[in-house]
Amino acid sequence: MINKWLKKICLFSIGKNEKTEVRSGILEERRRLLWLPVAAASAMLFPRRVWPNGISSAFVREGMDWKDFLKDVSPRAKELHKDPSIKGQDAYLYWLASMAARLNFDSIPNGKLRTFANLNPPVETGLAHRGIPFFIIEWKMSANAFLPPHNHPNISVCTLCTQGEARIRNFNPNGKTPAFDSKKEFSVQETHNEILTAGRINTLSAKRDNIHEFRVGKDGARGIDITTYHGKDEGFSFLDIDTKPNDEFNRTYRATWKKF
Ligand SMILES: [Fe+2]
Repeated sequence: MINKWLKKICLFSIGKNEKTEVRSGILEERRRLLWLPVAAASAMLFPRRVWPNGISSAFVREGMDWKDFLKDVSPRAKELHKDPSIKGQDAYLYWLASMAARLNFDSIPNGKLRTFANLNPPVETGLAHRGIPFFIIEWKMSANAFLPPHNHPNISVCTLCTQGEARIRNFNPNGKTPAFDSKKEFSVQETHNEILTAGRINTLSAKRDNIHEFRVGKDGARGIDITTYHGKDEGFSFLDIDTKPNDEFNRTYRATWKKF
């Protein structure tokens, strides 16, 4: 394949004959090739690909700048956000995740962060963007921090880790849950248990995996949460979840709401 392209480049090259004395009295005629500029040649070898959504492969390699990300993503996000069904939220979230995967991490604002819920080791958060339909929270978790399990009623979150390492677990409640101020026990099922490292993404919708927790590694972790309301604000609550499952195979755990 490469040879075929090299031949094509030679066709475009300019030939010029040149005589060189190789041994005493013997002249050898050499054809000198004036090569096309390297950029032009490489463009022929590796033509610029454009993805179906109009994003060039250069964007994918080099990453999308924060401002371009916000400008490009918002119009389509608004369209997809109109469907609040289970499938509609997933279509919205997975598309958002595919765009977030292209973000150039160096262009993320690195704004002012505040400690969250007085956790120790500290977890810090700050608002990086407020828009429609989503807002973006920047977060920084210290080494060995634990952000306890909490829910996000009527909210979806697309979490992108940009630095460090954290174990994230998601849960679904089994059936109806009591009011946040109730001490009544209920059941949750673990639906994800995975490692987040720079570039990895986890999503939760208002309809699935809506509870999550983070346990951070020895180097800490940073990331962003692209957060969207799909209904009215109902607050949220932390939970206590048993360490051991009461059903090993189904990964179900006893849980209660917890205040901080
Ligand atoms: Fe959260």
